[in-house]
Amino acid sequence: MKRLVIANWKMNPKNLKEALLLAGSLKSELKDIRGAEVVICPPFPYLAAVARQLRHSGLLLGAQDMSSEEKGAHTGQVSPAMLKAFGCAFVILGHSELRRESGETDFMVNRKLRGALKNGISPVLCVENTIQLRKALQGVPRGAYGRIVVAYEPLWAISTNKGAKAADPSRVAAMARTFRMIVPGAAILYGGSVSSKNAAVFLKKGKVEGFLVGQASLKAEEFTNLVKIAAFR
Ligand code: PGA
Repeated sequence: MKRLVIANWKMNPKNLKEALLLAGSLKSELKDIRGAEVVICPPFPYLAAVARQLRHSGLLLGAQDMSSEEKGAHTGQVSPAMLKAFGCAFVILGHSELRRESGETDFMVNRKLRGALKNGISPVLCVENTIQLRKALQGVPRGAYGRIVVAYEPLWAISTNKGAKAADPSRVAAMARTFRMIVPGAAILYGGSVSSKNAAVFLKKGKVEGFLVGQASLKAEEFTNLVKIAAFR
């Protein structure tokens, strides 16, 4: 299976100009990458411009969240169809920052996951444990498991949280094994303080298919190095 590296830009960079500079550098640095699929997830207002920038680059586009509803009176929300229209092949769902800051529940994550699958967008489901994973999968047919990406993201490992420290690779391997039993066919990623320094260890000992990357995805050189590690090891 090809490696998968997903850049979660979160609420960065601070303006469109910087976003396009970053996307442009990644496009030129990573255009010949074959061993890894790279997905860039910018904030909503940058999606259209970044999509144009990434055209013909082989880099894919994703969003950081999505409504579970198809259309209508949902102030502040973005529908799956809108994301598709901008070329989003992936959508991050259930990120711990949304669970914490916006009170997103397992029920909501489950509805969004099903909405993404129904609309042909691959969900990148962020979970900290098997309870969240099982709840998110309720009512999802087994035949769709192969289109799901699961990111194991322990809260305490996310770089911006106080005292953050990357998870132990053997713990990641154990979680990945358990996740694979629950959702066979899904790609399993690790996220939390991943950098070009620890990526190789996570691939080898953590036995994951790739990464969901926050902080390290905001610097073109660092992210390029990280992707190259994923692609060639
Ligand atoms: P980090 O973030 O790589 O900065 O730890 C990962 C994430 O929150 O998805």
